[in-house]
Amino acid sequence: MSQRIQFTAHGGPEVLQLVEYHAAEPGPDEVCVANRAIGLNFIDTYLRSGLYAPPSLPSGLGTEGAGVIEAVGSAVSRFKVGERVAYATGPLGAYSELHVLPADKLVKLPDSISFEQAAAVMLKGLTAQYLLRQTFALQGGETILFHAAAGGVGSLACQWAKALGVKLIGVVSSAAKAEYALALGAWVCINSSQEDVVQRVLELTDGKKCPVVYDSVGKDSWETSLNCVAPRGLLVSFGNASGPVSGVNLGILAQKGSLYVTRPTLASYADSPEHLQAMADELFAMLDSGQVRVEIGQRFALRDAAAAQQALSSRQTTGSSILLP
Ligand SMILES: NC(=O)c1ccc[n+]([C@@H]2O[C@H](COP(=O)([O-])OP(=O)(O)OC[C@H]3O[C@@H](n4cnc5c(N)ncnc54)[C@H](OP(=O)(O)O)[C@@H]3O)[C@@H](O)[C@H]2O)c1
Repeated sequence: MSQRIQFTAHGGPEVLQLVEYHAAEPGPDEVCVANRAIGLNFIDTYLRSGLYAPPSLPSGLGTEGAGVIEAVGSAVSRFKVGERVAYATGPLGAYSELHVLPADKLVKLPDSISFEQAAAVMLKGLTAQYLLRQTFALQGGETILFHAAAGGVGSLACQWAKALGVKLIGVVSSAAKAEYALALGAWVCINSSQEDVVQRVLELTDGKKCPVVYDSVGKDSWETSLNCVAPRGLLVSFGNASGPVSGVNLGILAQKGSLYVTRPTLASYADSPEHLQAMADELFAMLDSGQVRVEIGQRFALRDAAAAQQALSSRQTTGSSILLP
C-alpha cells in the first residue's frame, strides 16, 4: 500500500484527502515512478474546483513530479528500474508516493538537477520555454509585459527573459513581490495594488506598448492586457488565476489595433516525446548554465496538499512550491 491525495467531489481545498491505495502494475508502455518530490501548480486547483474536468471521480491530482523508476512495462526500452526521471504533463495522480504513467511522458533527469529542483521546474520551466521561445520567439531587445511575475512560471520567466536580453515588465500585487521579481531579473515591476498598469506601460514604452503580453491572471486582467499590446502584437492568455476569460467580442481586437490572441497549453507544445525532450534539454541547459535558477519558495508534506493549495490560490506563495511524499 502507498499513499496518495484524491478527491471524490469538486470544492475547496478541504475536498483533498490522503488515502491508502494500491498503485496499479504498469501496463506494457508504462512505468511506475517512486516520487521523491511533486510539483504544485495552479492547474491543480482548477481540476479540484471543477473549472477543468478530470476524466472521472474519484480522481488523483497533480501532473508534475520527479523520482526513481520502480517498475517498467514489458514494452518499455528507453527506461530502466532505478533511473532518475521527471515528468510534467500528466496523467493526473502525481500527488502520490507511487505514480504510474506512460513512459512517453518522462525525461531522464541529469545528475546536476535534484529531485526537488526538477519537481519545482519541470511544468513551469517547460511553460516558460514555450511561451518565450515558441509562442512568441523573443529575439532580444523587446520590452514585454508578464503578469504574476513573482509566481512559479513568472519567477522563471523573469530570469529567462533577462538571459535573452529582453526587458520584462512584471506585474505583481505587493511591494515584497516586486522586490523579489526585480532581484530575479525583471526590468521593472508594477505593483498592481498601487499603480495603474496601463499608464505605467505607456510611460515605460514611450507610448509604444508591448509586442507581446503574457497573461495568466485571466478575467481580472484581460482588459488591462489588451490595452498594453502594441498594434499587431500578441496577447498570450495562458491561465485563469482570477477566473476564466469569457464572452470575448472579436471586434475588440480590431479596435485595439489588429491584435492577435492565443490561448496555449503546455500539452499542445510538448505533444510528442521528441518535442518534450527538446524543450527539457533547453530548460536543463539554462539551469546548468546558471542563467535560470529554480526558486523553491515553499515546501509542504504531501499530506498537507490542501494547505499548499490554499496558500497558492490566496496569493501567499512566491516562486515554486513542492510537495514531499
Ligand atoms: N497554459 C499553460 O500551459 C500553463 C502552464 C503552467 C501554468 N499556467 C498558468 O500560469 C499561471 C501561473 O501558474 P503557477 O502555478 O506558476 O502559479 P503562481 O504564478 O505561482 O500563482 C498565481 C499568481 O497569480 C496571481 N494572481 C492574480 N490574481 C489572482 C487571483 N485572483 N487569485 C490568485 N492568484 C492571482 C498571484 O500573484 P500576485 O499576487 O503577484 O498577483 C499568484 O501568486 C496560472 O494561471 C496557471 O494556470 C498555464
